[in-house]
Amino acid sequence: MRAASVSDYRELARRRLPNIFFEYIDGGSYAEATLRRNVADMEAIALRQRVMRDMSALDMSVTTLGQTLAMPVGLAPVGMAGMYARRGEVQAARAAKAAGIPFCLSAMGVCGVEEVTAGAGLAPWYQLYMLKDRGYMRELLARVKAQGCPVLVFTVDLPVPGARYRDVRSGFTGSSGVSGALNTAWDGVTHPAWMWDVWANGRPHSLGSVAGAVQGKHGRVTDFLSWVARNFDRSVTWKDMDWVREIWDGPIVIKGVLDPADARDAVKAGAQGLIVSNHGGRQLDGVRSSISALPKIAQAVGSDLEVYMDGGVRSGLDVLKAMALGARACFVGRAWAYALGAGGEATVARMLATLRSELSVAMILTGCANLADAGRELLDSEA
Ligand SMILES: Cc1cc2nc3c(=O)[nH]c(=O)nc-3n(C[C@H](O)[C@H](O)[C@H](O)COP(=O)(O)O)c2cc1C
Repeated sequence: MRAASVSDYRELARRRLPNIFFEYIDGGSYAEATLRRNVADMEAIALRQRVMRDMSALDMSVTTLGQTLAMPVGLAPVGMAGMYARRGEVQAARAAKAAGIPFCLSAMGVCGVEEVTAGAGLAPWYQLYMLKDRGYMRELLARVKAQGCPVLVFTVDLPVPGARYRDVRSGFTGSSGVSGALNTAWDGVTHPAWMWDVWANGRPHSLGSVAGAVQGKHGRVTDFLSWVARNFDRSVTWKDMDWVREIWDGPIVIKGVLDPADARDAVKAGAQGLIVSNHGGRQLDGVRSSISALPKIAQAVGSDLEVYMDGGVRSGLDVLKAMALGARACFVGRAWAYALGAGGEATVARMLATLRSELSVAMILTGCANLADAGRELLDSEA
């Protein structure tokens, strides 16, 4: 199949990846209501078609935190990308760099920050989860700083992992003993291209950035959810931003805000940006979609910090909708994880080219020549 859209990359990833990894990427928490809402609410927004305007010159670039992006899209932090393709974080970071957009490395990445920086020739944005072990956190932040990462993305919506039923059913979490091992082995051998690329040639399969904090057998990536539950710090509050600030003097983006009151608190705590996000519908199921939360948050913070969003972005048309509702840029999670699983760096690059061309068509047909001017007038509020 020749892939034309993000849903095609999803289908290719479904065929190529072992079931446990495809389900891990594709799924959400509990009944997946929020995951569906992210996509459905985005789809329900009507763009406003305009004609007979001079669209011969388009400006698709935006500035975020002083950095110019070739388009208003970034690769959201996605855990364990190195299990979807050989050294997957490096491959995705290379594709992002070539497209002129940021790659945000997950704290749960298989490749550590040093490997990604060296492999892509550019330091990524770095996503932080706060572990209980503050000594380790201090060392980790020093490592991130030493690599020259330009932005710290502090994810605040996962003090505890939401239950993902699909991961239980697939055997990704909670399966043990001989039947669990056989199930996983069968999943691998029935996907030979993945076995060769990732299992045979993509080692080590540990969590690069936090490997030192993961003890014993829990260094194996598939044990990580139980490790998360034990080691993430649930006592974190806005006060801990001061602690982070003592070590990190660069820009901080708070990821996982869905409520305008929390957005105001992020401003007070001194963040430079925030990502309106429900973790792709993977945390508290039943909460509203990111796109529906965006306008009030953008209004609540005004120009006090930069507002981005993620969740349900599946095309360049969705990117324009997010811009129209107040985002300065948006991030994609599953879109790049599917593409990486489907075919590595080259496929991530093709997926990004697809988003770009979709965005340009949407701009031309809504009469938006410059993204800096994108606003509600691009939407049809009566449709
Ligand atoms: C497989 C997968 C793993 C993820 N891992 C992380 C992570 O380690 N840290 C984080 O902050 N967000 C993580 N996220 C959430 C994404 O950063 C992002 O918020 C979400 O994917 C956006 O929704 P979308 O998939 O609809 O684009 C993950 C998402 C997926 C799909």
